[in-house]
Amino acid sequence: MTFSPAPWPRRLRSQEWYGGTSRDNIYHRGWLKNQGYPDDLFDGRPVIGILNTWSDLTPCNGHLRELAEKVKAGVWEAGGFPVEVPVFSASENTFRPTAMMYRNLAAMAVEEVMRAQPIDGAVLLVGCDKTTPSLMMGAASTDIPSIVVTGGPMLNGWFRGERVGSGTALWQMSEDIKAGKMTQEEFLQAEQAMSRSSGTCNTMGTASTMASMAEALGMALSGNAAIPGVDSRRRVMAQLTGRRIVQMVKDDLKPSDILTKQAFENAIRCNGAIGGSTNAVIHLLALAGRVGVDVTLDDWDRCGRDVPTIVNLMPSGKYLMEEFFYAGGLPVVLKRLSEAGMLHDDALTVSGTTIGEEVKGAQNWNDDVILPVEKALAASGGIAVLRGNLAPNGAVLKPSAASPHLMKHRGRAVVFEDIDDYKARINDDALDIDETCVMVMKNCGPKGYPGMSEVGNMGLPPKVLKKGITDMVRISDARMSGTAYGTVVLHTAPEAAAGGPLAVVRTGDMIELDVEARRIHLDISDEELAARLAAWTPPAPMFTSGYSKMFVDMVEGADTGADFTILKGNRGHEVPRDSH
Ligand code: FES
Repeated sequence: MTFSPAPWPRRLRSQEWYGGTSRDNIYHRGWLKNQGYPDDLFDGRPVIGILNTWSDLTPCNGHLRELAEKVKAGVWEAGGFPVEVPVFSASENTFRPTAMMYRNLAAMAVEEVMRAQPIDGAVLLVGCDKTTPSLMMGAASTDIPSIVVTGGPMLNGWFRGERVGSGTALWQMSEDIKAGKMTQEEFLQAEQAMSRSSGTCNTMGTASTMASMAEALGMALSGNAAIPGVDSRRRVMAQLTGRRIVQMVKDDLKPSDILTKQAFENAIRCNGAIGGSTNAVIHLLALAGRVGVDVTLDDWDRCGRDVPTIVNLMPSGKYLMEEFFYAGGLPVVLKRLSEAGMLHDDALTVSGTTIGEEVKGAQNWNDDVILPVEKALAASGGIAVLRGNLAPNGAVLKPSAASPHLMKHRGRAVVFEDIDDYKARINDDALDIDETCVMVMKNCGPKGYPGMSEVGNMGLPPKVLKKGITDMVRISDARMSGTAYGTVVLHTAPEAAAGGPLAVVRTGDMIELDVEARRIHLDISDEELAARLAAWTPPAPMFTSGYSKMFVDMVEGADTGADFTILKGNRGHEVPRDSH
């Protein structure tokens, strides 16, 4: 695919504010000049918005103001006019009930920030899980030239000679305490070792996955995803990104030029190869909806089915993002996909060239981190999409994080009505449950636990853990952290709170899981299922006002990306009428 730059120079949208001698032009320019900008900066050069998700309460993005300075340097060098703009920062580790409830709010805010202001091009400065998809979604809806640069992962955590992977170690250690393998004091000591530097989670969790998705989609410069947050090369990447966005504006290279069906298929296959987070399913479906590209759950299953997971990172494997970077990072993985005929080489990227061209020179420096196919962590590593009477609209499972012996399983359901019910009963040794059972949790989907909490990887009952058992089949309409693992069926749709079949599962029902056959089945008759659904009544709403209510009322199902219907599609960037 070739890209034909638009004629340059041309009048950019920022000139609607700054390019003229009207009262309104003087008003807009005059106010900005209170920051000491000389007259010639308003000569028609691109105004580049550096949309910054920095926040003290988003520690994963805590270093983005420093990176913003490097982006600015790049923009100045290339002849642009950089302006740093703070945008909504939904932190994964502080926002309640879950940061996911605010992804759409953040995306909506970013879209309006871009459209309503004199921004000709945008650098999306992101990192923590929801910041990357929300900014890409907002940018896609405006279709203003945009480029992603992420903050990069933290350095490895180390505790007693072992790697401590963000999140993954937290889940493991909390299970070890329940199993009597670790003391609370040791857990507190480990806390000191978990987060050694600025940056995002150092596992292949959702932040690293979404950074990889941005790169595989072609929305970030090649090599961006894996550079540690504190590595000097991260700052170089920021500066190069600043330079590049100016040229993108000159060429009018827009998100809709890059976010094609081929780009999404590349990203889906990449997710299978890296053992990426199940959260990417929801975010890419939502992003595709913003650009009007037809991507469905079936595309996830079709494209991911034959992709081996070759990146040996937690939670599926043993290393962390720092080692992935040293091994060559994502370009190596994309090159391997290309060599296997699994990459659309001619998909365009923000660089102005094709992804195949970008990665053809990549080299693998450590084949224990980026594995040969014969040693893949999972031969079929792509997200499996399950269907059946329990999930008519689909559910997902991550094969690389699941236990092979549980991929085909029939077990007795032990049902928890919601997360509170689960917490109240799971540690009770009187609970009638063993490792052959299927744990079921309801009412944790987009509407049920607004935002769809990351609780799908329910911790196992202590009495099972004490037997040395580390995995059981779990089913819910929740999400799970990208750092988590287990044979966990997620995103069951329709969700329980919307009256999906999950709502009427009862303790004692038998459930069949067959990942190879892509089947999830509640073993009751059609008549019994229909009768239970007819008798079902929805749970009382958790919120009756404010954004939370708006979210519950407007959010779509997980199977289409949990976006708001009114936000779907590319609404462009026509300048709103000036009201002064
Ligand atoms: Fe922010 Fe993991 S919690 S990147």
